[in-house]
Amino acid sequence: MNAEGFTKSLNLLSLFRLKNREYLIISIMKNFKRYLITSALPYANGPIHIGHLAGVYVPSDIYTRYLRMNGVDVISVCGSDEHGVPITLKARKEGVSPQVIVDRYHTINKKAFEDFGIAFDIYSRTSNKVHYDTASEFFRTLYDKGEFIEKSSDQYYDEEAGCFLADRYIMGTCPHCGNENAYGDQCEKCGTSLSPNELINPHSTVSGSKPVLRETLHWYLPLDKYEPWLKKWILEEHKEWKTNVYGQCKSWLDQGLQPRAVSRDLDWGVPVPVEGIEGKVLYVWFDAPIGYISATKELTPDWEKYWKDKETRMVHFIGKDNIVFHCIIFPAMLNAEGSYILPENVPANEFLNLENDKISTSRNWAVWLHEYLEDFPGKQDVLRYALCANAPETKDNDFTWKDFQARNNNELVAILGNFINRTLVLTNNYYSGRVPERGTTDTNDDTVLKEIGRLKENVGASLEAFRFREALKEAMNLARLGNKYLADAEPWKVIKTDPERVKTIMNIALQITANLTIVCEPFLPFSMEKLRGWLNYNELKWSKAGESDLLLPGHVINKPELLFEKIEDEEITRQVDKLLATKKANEASDAKTVAGKESITFDDFTKVDIRTATILEAEKVPKTTKLLKLKIDTGLDIRTIVSGIAEYYEPEAIIGRQISIIANLEPRKIKGIESQGMILMAEDKDGKLVMVTPSANVSNGSMIK
Ligand code: MF3
Ligand code: ZN
Repeated sequence: MNAEGFTKSLNLLSLFRLKNREYLIISIMKNFKRYLITSALPYANGPIHIGHLAGVYVPSDIYTRYLRMNGVDVISVCGSDEHGVPITLKARKEGVSPQVIVDRYHTINKKAFEDFGIAFDIYSRTSNKVHYDTASEFFRTLYDKGEFIEKSSDQYYDEEAGCFLADRYIMGTCPHCGNENAYGDQCEKCGTSLSPNELINPHSTVSGSKPVLRETLHWYLPLDKYEPWLKKWILEEHKEWKTNVYGQCKSWLDQGLQPRAVSRDLDWGVPVPVEGIEGKVLYVWFDAPIGYISATKELTPDWEKYWKDKETRMVHFIGKDNIVFHCIIFPAMLNAEGSYILPENVPANEFLNLENDKISTSRNWAVWLHEYLEDFPGKQDVLRYALCANAPETKDNDFTWKDFQARNNNELVAILGNFINRTLVLTNNYYSGRVPERGTTDTNDDTVLKEIGRLKENVGASLEAFRFREALKEAMNLARLGNKYLADAEPWKVIKTDPERVKTIMNIALQITANLTIVCEPFLPFSMEKLRGWLNYNELKWSKAGESDLLLPGHVINKPELLFEKIEDEEITRQVDKLLATKKANEASDAKTVAGKESITFDDFTKVDIRTATILEAEKVPKTTKLLKLKIDTGLDIRTIVSGIAEYYEPEAIIGRQISIIANLEPRKIKGIESQGMILMAEDKDGKLVMVTPSANVSNGSMIK
């Protein structure tokens, strides 16, 4: 099939399965001439881990390789996202400039991607000049067209450091769970998203001082203005998007969109290109997706055909946390600008966990790509395989080293490697590596030969629908088919009685092998390159697959080696131990933060009124999951305290319980209820709270000292 044939075939293949087994025919009546594949630009504040790979880069690479094999005009762009507060925070922590941080991780990640066979056409970065120019120009176009709202608002300012504070730079106590180390945008303990003015006792992480509110000017993209257009474009015209993506978009759109600030008071980023404005940069989520455009510019002077011609099909590969930016905000920006195309699809994935825990860069809970490549040299394809087979396509998934080992030993070695090895070894033994003639075929032979074509079609159709797990399974089914064929035909037995028949069997096994080099190439490029070498067969055209005479009689193949090796338990244990050590280190450092409070004077201590009290009444605070409203007898008075213990105690079970409280804490409103004091709780390692109760009954109001 030529390139045009391929793009047309997409129209016919656009049968997408919706939920309840309904089929919906989407008429993508456009004809695409070329593809632009983008993969989320990873932040250059840490190394790439398996979560990134499974969610974004492995699928995008498979898809791109598949398109290239179809002879389509395709480019795949990516690069480092080098702005944003986490990068400046990390730089501050290390006492270096942000440029040092992004240089470090850009280099590590670029190399790791290359070594892993992620075949970007360009891996650019957002701190380079092309990007600064492109992003400024983009902003300026919108600015000149009057697409922004200019608005002043009060934001926290650090008077000691002389700077406005991004939400992440402000810490304080979470109003929901009492965590003292909540950030201005989120409490990582209870997961609530916050705004800085909700924090109790906010302080600046830059100087430690108490921030003050100060007026500042910013530019907002009025997303509300694009809401009707977005609704039509996504909800009506892109019903074929993955359920998780469509669903998230719908819920954003149903909630109603608000204007979004696209600038920040920071000194790291693309300066706001407005005369007389200093100390303000573009918001990282404004400049980063423009990075796709700058990367394309850096790649080719012909970049405009990829971005401005309606016959380009743009596909964004991302993780689910990026959906709103790629489906709503960036398209609104592109639409406002006016000269760019929009994405045709955004096949976002869910998250991959590691050994039942959320992957976390800051807690070092990850399998880092650059470390994997060192620990498992030459085994890129094993990880590519394990991550694709277990990709979090429709729900979050878990990566375990045991599963990784099983995928390798039971599938790559036992199915794919085994079939290929048997075929190549027998061909060498029986015919000195010369492909034998295929004689008369029986019905089973014919069925098998037909099946090759069917499986190849399945792989293609699944890939085009972004169902990578299914595609990989179908590709492996070709190897399964081969194994079954050999097991049924038993050439090693028949060779003694009917050597002519064996020629036919081996010819067919060799055709399956040659087909595998094509069909498995997008998934396992390193292994298929080896296999092509052993087969002396270098055809990479997808359209070739499915045929049954890829290797002609007389063609000579080489001696094979083993395609995959068994992974022993020791190797897996080593990796699991490494994770256990991380877990221990994290627990130790958690304990240290608790122990590590500053010392206070005795006077400070006596200021705190800690005393015993008894719970008289307890009830859940409506519409919350964590809060109980308690009426307590303090010996001095009867008062109300709201406490975040509902997950640990049933209201009825604690009535009459003696507890310890801080009685002179300033009252504060929680969910509209005034809470007059605080209950002392002991927090267990796993975050569970238990009440601190006197070991014998004492009268209410007894001082604790
Ligand atoms: N750096 C972002 C992340 O890792 C992704 C940016 S994607 C882009 O979540 F489109 F903005 F580039
Ligand atoms: Zn909290």
